[in-house]
Amino acid sequence: MNPSRCLYPGSFDPVTLGHVDIIRRAAALFDTVVVGVLYNPEKQGCFPAAQRVDMLKRVCAGIPNVEVISYGGLLAQFTRETGISVVVRGVRGVADLESETVMARINHQLNPALETLFLPASPEKGEISSSMVRQLASFGADLSAYVPSEVLPDILAAFSHQRMNILRED
Ligand code: COA
Repeated sequence: MNPSRCLYPGSFDPVTLGHVDIIRRAAALFDTVVVGVLYNPEKQGCFPAAQRVDMLKRVCAGIPNVEVISYGGLLAQFTRETGISVVVRGVRGVADLESETVMARINHQLNPALETLFLPASPEKGEISSSMVRQLASFGADLSAYVPSEVLPDILAAFSHQRMNILRED
């Protein structure tokens, strides 16, 4: 039997405990999980791609069957080049399911060998998003319930300057 591989793609700007939930569960289902930092042209990035990869590598260091990569092109092209035929996406609710279904259909049209599997986000992780983490960070809130401890220093460093500016404007 061929070893199974899947791609778990996302912006990971930054990685959250919601993403880690999906990575761990995918790692239990597949021989290898390739976590891919891909480019979403609709989102203005906060952390550079290299730092997002670095943060994910630190967070996933204890999961032996996880690889982390970044790719600037189409997801369909990446999976064609690597021969990966399964994409895993986490869904937090109906709104995610709607947009994820569209994305899965387009990716399948672009690469008919590709299937998308949806994993429901664990209930306690269903409210987390990277933009929510960034907003809380800009106000100096405690992030320990939302992001892995390995990346807290990165986030605090990235937002310390912004917090100082907010205070200056008061
Ligand atoms: N639990 C909690 N939160 C979750 C989650 C989970 N299980 N899964 C996703 N999220 C959050 C993320 O934090 C993110 O929050 P944000 O919107 O505040 O940033 C949001 O839900 C979805 O982000 P993510 O899963 O990172 O996906 P994305 O929509 O930003 O990325 C790409 C989509 C990168 C996979 C897509 O744009 C892509 O494939 N890009 C390559 C180019 C391409 O092929 N385009 C055509 C696609 S059809």
